Amino acid sequence: MASQLMQQLTETAEHIRSIYPHTITTGIILGSGLGNLSSEMEIEQEIAYETIPHFPVSTVEGHQGKMIFGRLGGKRVLVMAGRFHFYEGYTPQQVSYPVRVMKMLGINNLFLSNAAGGVGEGFKVGDLMIIKDHISFFTVNPLIGANEPELGVRFPDMSEPYYKPFMAKAKQIGRELGFDLREGVYTGVTGPTFETHAEYRLIKNIGGDAVGMSTVQEVIIAVHAGMKVFAVSVITDLGIREDDSIITHEEVLAAAKDAEPKLTALFREMVAAL
Ligand code: HPA
Repeated sequence: MASQLMQQLTETAEHIRSIYPHTITTGIILGSGLGNLSSEMEIEQEIAYETIPHFPVSTVEGHQGKMIFGRLGGKRVLVMAGRFHFYEGYTPQQVSYPVRVMKMLGINNLFLSNAAGGVGEGFKVGDLMIIKDHISFFTVNPLIGANEPELGVRFPDMSEPYYKPFMAKAKQIGRELGFDLREGVYTGVTGPTFETHAEYRLIKNIGGDAVGMSTVQEVIIAVHAGMKVFAVSVITDLGIREDDSIITHEEVLAAAKDAEPKLTALFREMVAAL
């Protein structure tokens, strides 16, 4: 008999397929302040999260999440406008449920973006960083619990979570579009506090270049499922800085908005090149 998780995933995927039956090449999860990619899409369908069976229920007021289906760079994509964060109170399994749904829909490429604090040498606000590896400070791994062999192995390898050919392609596209792309290690933390000065220094000392409150749990689930992952951080603030400024969510959103056109162009060209 199928487990409850498999049953739920099957029902979620069947519901989505009944509304949008087309083959989708790529799933895209957009970070805070980075939701405008859909303006570049030929939108064919939208599905509000609250109407999707077994989808996490929003606990945050004013949270408007939806799946957007359509063409980007000529290819069919599923864009998640609004993701679930651990700091909102979702379990790691809920945070990553949409990735499993994508896999059930036959999607094998996962692109993610996020807003992140920069600690890497020479990083500036507005930089785009290709994530080449990550460090998880999430205390709870989303794969804790019974393993579902249909979804992946008990002890997944994590030596190459980010698909190298995607990184190479992104660098080529960055050169063609004429903008610099950094490459670095993303450190995933729970939030919702931004880091103390000592924590930012710790993250830099252990090899992190950027720090943020998402992505890692989704990537773990995607790697478990054998998906090819590409992820980009937009540097919205600097953790290690000379002045004594504070970091606010508003500043993060404003910086993300400024950098968004570059990210949108990169994702569009990446999808087109698939
Ligand atoms: N720290 C953690 N998460 C973030 C940051 C940060 O500095 N900026 C944007 N998301």
